[in-house]
Amino acid sequence: MTQDEMKKAAATKALEYIKNDTIVGVGTGSTVNYFIDALATIKHNIVGAVSSSEESSKRLKAHGIEVFDLNNVDVLDVYVDGADEITKHMSMIKGGGAALTREKIVAAVAKQFICIADDSKQVEILGNFPLPVEVIPMARSYVARELVKLGGDPEYRQGVITDNGNVILDVHNLSIINPKKLEADINAIVGVVTNGLFANRGADILILVGENGVNVKQ
Ligand code: 5RP
Repeated sequence: MTQDEMKKAAATKALEYIKNDTIVGVGTGSTVNYFIDALATIKHNIVGAVSSSEESSKRLKAHGIEVFDLNNVDVLDVYVDGADEITKHMSMIKGGGAALTREKIVAAVAKQFICIADDSKQVEILGNFPLPVEVIPMARSYVARELVKLGGDPEYRQGVITDNGNVILDVHNLSIINPKKLEADINAIVGVVTNGLFANRGADILILVGENGVNVKQ
């Protein structure tokens, strides 16, 4: 299987977790794009979706799936999203697509976080993938200095403005032994909107596809 075939297989498997007559939380990225395409095949069974990015909203609407404002939705049974890295403890690094803040908000509302990924995303220790941090533009240099104090090597993601009008710092060279603590420590820096560690609210179910097929962990 190619990596794209693995992503598609994980996305298709996630359909088994979608209940009829519900609103589905939808993440962002190339794996989620396969999920949105799969969701379109059962669109008449669901009420619609809450989306974590303008990109995903556009794709959902193109398929004729209604996109709801999260403020008008009380209950989300499931949130389906990819990851840049995930550990066996279900902690993740996300935000490679710069959608981390909205992803974290929709994930917070959902009862279940279903992570879909090819097995290249599974790691022992988080941090090989640079950790994205969404920052209020005027705080960029200050936050970068604070991230250096935490042992990281922040790099400004040039030319990227998030859906919320902010900038991204990608933090290199972090060996993340205690992801829950680091998530909280980075979020405590003034000017940080949020960071791409999803440890305090990790995944509940992981659908991981490798050469040996589809594996589900929960
Ligand atoms: C976007 C994300 C994505 O879930 C993450 O980057 C994985 O993307 P892909 O499925 O394209 O590998 O967090 O902000």
